Amino acid sequence: MESCFWLLLVLITLAIIIHIVQAQDQKGFISLDCGLPDDQMSPYKMKGTELWFSSDKEFIQSGKTGRVRENPNGYAEPYLTMRYFPEGRRNCYNLSVDKGRKYLIKAYFLYGNYDGLYTNPVFDLYLGPNLWDTIDLETLVNGTAEEILHIPTSNSLQICLVKTGNTSPVITALELRPMGKKSYITKSGSLDFFFRRYHSDSRVPLRRRTDVYDRRWYPFFMREWTQIYTDLEVSNSNDYVPPQGALKSAATPTNTRDPLTIKWSSANPSDQYYLYAHFAEIQDLQANETREFNILLNGQHYSGPVIPKKLDVTTIDNVNPKTCQGGECSFQLIRTKRSTLPPLLNAFEVYKVIRFPQSETDENDVDAIKDIASSYGLSKITWQGDPCVPQQLMWDGLNCNNTDMSSTPPRITSLNLSSSGLTGTIAAAIQSLTKLEKLDLSNNNLTGVVPEFLGNMESLSVINLSGNNLNGSIPQALHKKGLELSVDGNPMLCLSDSCKEAPKKKVLVPIVASAAFAAIVIVVLICFLVFGKKKKTILQGLDLPPRTSTVEVTFANKNRRRYTYSEVIQMTNNFQRVLGKGGFGMVYHGTVNGSEQVAVKVLSKSSTQGYKEFKTEVDLLLRVHHTNLVSLVGYCYEGDQLALIYEFLPNGDLKHHLSGKGGRSIINWSTRLLIALDASLGLEYLHVGCKPPMVHRDIKTANLLLDENFKAKLADFGLSRSFQGGGEAQNSTVIAGTPGYVDPEYNHSGRLAEKSDVYSFGIVLLEMITNQPVINQTTENSHITQWVGFMVNRGDIIDIMDPNLGNDYDVNSVWRALELAMSCANPVSSKRPSMSKVIQELKECIVCENSGIHNNRGLEPQEMNVSFDTTVVPIAR
Ligand SMILES: *[C@@H]1O[C@H](CO)[C@@H](O)[C@H](O)[C@H]1NC(C)=O
Ligand SMILES: *[C@@H]1O[C@H](CO)[C@@H](O)[C@H](O)[C@H]1NC(C)=O
Ligand SMILES: *[C@@H]1O[C@H](CO)[C@@H](O)[C@H](O)[C@H]1NC(C)=O
Ligand SMILES: *[C@@H]1O[C@H](CO)[C@@H](O)[C@H](O)[C@H]1NC(C)=O
Ligand SMILES: *[C@@H]1O[C@H](CO)[C@@H](O)[C@H](O)[C@H]1NC(C)=O
Ligand SMILES: *[C@@H]1O[C@H](CO)[C@@H](O)[C@H](O)[C@H]1NC(C)=O
Ligand SMILES: *[C@@H]1O[C@H](CO)[C@@H](O)[C@H](O)[C@H]1NC(C)=O
Ligand SMILES: *[C@@H]1O[C@H](CO)[C@@H](O)[C@H](O)[C@H]1NC(C)=O
Repeated sequence: MESCFWLLLVLITLAIIIHIVQAQDQKGFISLDCGLPDDQMSPYKMKGTELWFSSDKEFIQSGKTGRVRENPNGYAEPYLTMRYFPEGRRNCYNLSVDKGRKYLIKAYFLYGNYDGLYTNPVFDLYLGPNLWDTIDLETLVNGTAEEILHIPTSNSLQICLVKTGNTSPVITALELRPMGKKSYITKSGSLDFFFRRYHSDSRVPLRRRTDVYDRRWYPFFMREWTQIYTDLEVSNSNDYVPPQGALKSAATPTNTRDPLTIKWSSANPSDQYYLYAHFAEIQDLQANETREFNILLNGQHYSGPVIPKKLDVTTIDNVNPKTCQGGECSFQLIRTKRSTLPPLLNAFEVYKVIRFPQSETDENDVDAIKDIASSYGLSKITWQGDPCVPQQLMWDGLNCNNTDMSSTPPRITSLNLSSSGLTGTIAAAIQSLTKLEKLDLSNNNLTGVVPEFLGNMESLSVINLSGNNLNGSIPQALHKKGLELSVDGNPMLCLSDSCKEAPKKKVLVPIVASAAFAAIVIVVLICFLVFGKKKKTILQGLDLPPRTSTVEVTFANKNRRRYTYSEVIQMTNNFQRVLGKGGFGMVYHGTVNGSEQVAVKVLSKSSTQGYKEFKTEVDLLLRVHHTNLVSLVGYCYEGDQLALIYEFLPNGDLKHHLSGKGGRSIINWSTRLLIALDASLGLEYLHVGCKPPMVHRDIKTANLLLDENFKAKLADFGLSRSFQGGGEAQNSTVIAGTPGYVDPEYNHSGRLAEKSDVYSFGIVLLEMITNQPVINQTTENSHITQWVGFMVNRGDIIDIMDPNLGNDYDVNSVWRALELAMSCANPVSSKRPSMSKVIQELKECIVCENSGIHNNRGLEPQEMNVSFDTTVVPIAR
């Protein structure tokens, strides 16, 4: 364990060093000179800066290039060439970004009479599926720049220009700057730049070389102010890192008794603001001098009393967004009674909240449709940006669901590529469009066979393949009820097994399907009569218990099979579809018995888990049966080929849902409670229902799998241990589990007991409440329990909650769950509740949540009898 601790320490140190190095050489800056001609060097260094600009042509497929003809304002490169878009309604840049990271995004627009027509364009600017702003160059004849602080929700960022009239959209430059995590934090929404000033009577804006994030700071000074200035170094090292140059000067009111006042207004009184005021004492104060002031916003106390630190920056920001009555804002610094000096302000930033409510199309659907487009070489002008949203810009030939400004990602429900000149086979990527209901590929030149996967797509109910050159026969899987399949006009396709007749007409599969269904029913009936014993199994297999049932044995299927390796290859269609990757090896999608979907975990030769874990898992899963444990369908053990075949859980694991990876849905609070209950029922069964009892040892969100109804099942029993006697601990020399989830007591004693699972469960519950990383190496309170403790002590419960939950929860049920989670994660195992107690508590939480009236306004923290000890460090040692 000692070595583990050192390894962790080294890793953390490395992470910090890498972080610092990155901050210094500004890795991740993207600077595009839009419309840079091909014959000019790219990238090139912008004059007077350290910025490297490149041509934009790798990031957009459409548009033409131009250059300003008139430049009365004397703009410099890279703001002189442009890309303009005479064709297509929406044209999009596609930039590769880090999902979840905050970016400063700037876009520059200038017409400059590039076409000699003197028609300044007006158009819309979109960020993904959401309107960012309207760019009106008719009014802003000298060009304009848009700037926001935004956290992309996927790894690619689409910046789109959308035609709204007859004029062609135009853009001159695009800049992306990754920002630090701990600055410019909002409750919700992104930040739209309003102003950023440093208080100096200079005329020079500050930019790159002085600002690590390439923010532009404009000098600003008022007549009633007096400037103070220092030549000394001013430390700027806080989370905001305002440039030194912006801190070396400050404004103070000339009349030292007056407040220092800054006013601004906006047309929309409901605008919400975030303010960032940067202070540093830059005068040399005598022993009998003090500078102290309060800050008022719109006449109300905002912050203070503030005493600026000597030659060191202090930034004052607001946690909650602020509005100004009537849209008139006034920010005032007023000296306190004991202050001998007037207030001072060095630099000041104001942003407005901008919301992007429409979520992007489900990431898997987007990947699939792009894959389809590239396998058919489709280049449709409308196929840019988000496929489904905004609705009025949906790609040709698609139809989608959830396009109405909802927070649920839209899904593609219909794909119509009729008469699109497609050649080749039916693209395998179609099967990844899991919500597809209608597929029309008629009147193309498609060849090859009708793929079986079409029959396994659950939502698909209309398929039109007529008018192609498909061959082979129609797979059995397509012979199912409720599927309308048209295949006429495929001369090589045969419709019966004998393949004697060529098809003449549209085949009505439902009839065939019903015949096949009848046959199945007869076979099943015979089975019932002949093999009376099997009847029970089949019935139990079909009759799943209600969601919240307690320890109830289902799927008591004794027929778990041993498969050969070639059967594994066949069931996974030669390992075609990867579901995920575990310590054990890859997990693939497969099909057994024609239609039953399974997940196939194949032991890789290089895996860190090995044969022993494999065997543990087989033995255990053969022994246990519970509706909240993933059940084993079979296994393969042939030479050194090992594979486990489980029931398939279409909703993947909880970790993905929480992280929003793969476009997973955000699960609401009441569902999260039900999932927690499911997990606790599974664990209770292991701890109490199994003889001898069992400890899972690797409870984490990645091991909670979700079925189509979001019922949770525990998976991955490779580390599980059984031991004799309830509650009696067992010694073990090797500590197993996942860092952050490992019970600290077990970690240093090596004594294994059920309470170790309770600890991990507590961590999982904290993740479900907060959606924070279990170990966050970039913060001081690196473990989730420390973070929660810190936040609770700070007092604002809303800040603890996963922001994705919005307001859709009952605060009392959250507090109960939080208390429960913290008691489970108590460092002292004897203070943790048993799983049975956890179940009881969770049920009460659910009752509380369902009781109707949602109280989400927040309670006073002192009403709650929760106190968290933040000094405990439950990290692996
Ligand atoms: C545009 O720039 C010119 C030259 O600098 C200036 O005279 C004019 O007032 C500007 N127009 C606007 C609308 O800002
Ligand atoms: C956008 O860029 C990402 C990353 O570079 C890439 O994976 C994706 O396919 C691109 N999308 C389009 C529509 O070009
Ligand atoms: C502070 O002390 C200096 C002398 O050391 C004196 O000149 C000055 O007036 C004093 N200032 C105040 C505000 O008392
Ligand atoms: C959208 O799709 C979901 C899942 O397929 C379905 O339950 C829902 O009814 C659909 N909504 C609409 C408006 O079609
Ligand atoms: C597909 O589009 C064509 C015309 O482009 C139309 O005739 C056909 O009905 C559409 N198919 C479906 C299933 O809507
Ligand atoms: C299929 O391809 C042939 C030539 O290869 C062409 O003449 C025919 O028009 C194509 N059919 C369709 C429906 O695109
Ligand atoms: C299938 O497509 C063909 C050609 O587009 C069309 O004539 C036929 O009506 C379609 N069949 C169905 C069931 O929509
Ligand atoms: C179907 O056509 C493809 C080529 O288009 C050919 O390779 C394949 O052998 C054919 N299959 C059958 C069963 O005729």
